[in-house]
Amino acid sequence: MPQQIARKYTAFPPVGLTDRQWPNRVITQAPIWMSTDLRDGNQALFEPMNADKKMQMFQTLCQIGFKQIEVAFPSASETEFGFVRRLIEEKHIPDDVTIEVLTQAREHLIRRTFESLKGARQAIVHVYNATCPSFRDFVFGMSKAEVVKMAVDAVTLIKTLAAEMPETKITLEYSPELFTATELDFAKEVCDAVTAAWGATPDNKVILNLPTTVEIATPNIYADQIEWMHRHLARRDSVIISLHPHNDRGTAVAAAELALMAGAERVEGCLFGNGERTGNVDLVTLALNMHTQGVDPQLDFSDINAVARTYEHCTQLPIHPRHPYVGDLVFTAFSGSHQDAIKKGFAAQKADEPWAVPYLPVDPADVGRSYDSVIRVNSQSGKGGIAYLMETEYGVVMPRRLQVEFSGVVQRHTDAHGGELGATDIWELFSGEFLTSTAGLRYREHHLFEHGDAQGIRLAVEIDGVPHVLSGEGNGPINAAVHALQGAGFAFQVRSYEERSMVPMGDDGNARAVAFIEMNAGNGGERYGVGIDANIVSASLKALISGVNRLGAAARLDRAA
Ligand code: KIV
Ligand code: ZN
Repeated sequence: MPQQIARKYTAFPPVGLTDRQWPNRVITQAPIWMSTDLRDGNQALFEPMNADKKMQMFQTLCQIGFKQIEVAFPSASETEFGFVRRLIEEKHIPDDVTIEVLTQAREHLIRRTFESLKGARQAIVHVYNATCPSFRDFVFGMSKAEVVKMAVDAVTLIKTLAAEMPETKITLEYSPELFTATELDFAKEVCDAVTAAWGATPDNKVILNLPTTVEIATPNIYADQIEWMHRHLARRDSVIISLHPHNDRGTAVAAAELALMAGAERVEGCLFGNGERTGNVDLVTLALNMHTQGVDPQLDFSDINAVARTYEHCTQLPIHPRHPYVGDLVFTAFSGSHQDAIKKGFAAQKADEPWAVPYLPVDPADVGRSYDSVIRVNSQSGKGGIAYLMETEYGVVMPRRLQVEFSGVVQRHTDAHGGELGATDIWELFSGEFLTSTAGLRYREHHLFEHGDAQGIRLAVEIDGVPHVLSGEGNGPINAAVHALQGAGFAFQVRSYEERSMVPMGDDGNARAVAFIEMNAGNGGERYGVGIDANIVSASLKALISGVNRLGAAARLDRAA
């Protein structure tokens, strides 16, 4: 068996760099970031984003601070082409943001790509062809010289088309696809031919993007390959070395970090590591790793939950609960000894001193999160206590973030009152916190009506004991109720919505629905509202009102004003 494996898989050979410099270097500044969420990320989705989701993602990427965004593969489909047109024609591109478009090194695709860019102020045209032996031999059936010619012909055409479009400043990006599987001297030969054909100068640099199209070796090998290119490329002062790591071995972040030490200046990747197969390098992790080393990443993740919810909405992909910096559970300690150390660390931490709270590599506040300690109510249950009791005794299956939030409520109760909690105590706490609160806003009844294509609602509530009827319209009852409440001066956004039927049945034997709505109010943090009712719309409206009450003053700022 071991012999068979040795025949089937062989270790990637070392680069043979004996005087490598990168192990002694540290990262001292942010690279040029390029988000390919709308291209590499999008092409890997089960259901690619529609134009509206692409727009929402584009706007989020701009808000985060990306200045280069690969927005489409325009020659691949009408949707992709149309999205670039919409960005340009509807003037959605901020002055300091450069859009990037991808094309294969083929004449008709390059021409179509340029058509998509008409009217743009500036753009990066990203052209690629595969350079490694398996593509040369099996896929293209081309010699090395023919592969070089393919790249040079494409670049020459791009140069001609760019000259015909002087109103658009075109920057060239070239990727020798499967760079890490390509002989280094041949990768250099192709790249040098490209920069010569373009006429690269220090004022007109070419981006040479050196991808781990498939991650096939340890990160130190990628760093060696990048350092070799950094030291041997012609016209080095006229080139920006860019990284594009994929994550097949689970080491894309490490590969990017070491390759930055080795001389690269730019990184392409996706939020939360979306992308082909195991993904592109995760730009959030990479940026926040820099943040925790005292390097300003120049990307804003101070409200990481907002970015996460937009990402989940646009990609329809969940984020793993233990994903670095953002997962639902990364700022939650279950173990008593961890909780104790963290509590003491927080007490000792001074605002103006280096961060030193045990078990927390980053201050949760830096990413708009808070630390939660979660108790195990019933360790014998083997299922994490509170959530288990709520599900088995009361039929309420809580979303994970609500589990964390409610655990904090239970924790505060046990800290204040001590003692063990049973299932009834937990239900009373849950009910008092989410369902029967006597806080300022109370649900009375609602009436739905159609208004053209819109859904209208008249929502009868009590505000601080005074009856009101609020009206709103939206694309559904909940959206209409959100508008009605916002119109009455309550300031909040809905972050996520889930509804489930409750198992077992209610006491009367009838099925009931439970709705969970996660809400946010400016700097007031995030809170869940929960509603239970035989009618699903009523359950949802009660959940909205529960959430507004739980956000408290933060959601009532507008009313106070
Ligand atoms: O992974 C890759 O090599 C790519 C290229 C098109 C840059 O996505
Ligand atoms: Zn890729």
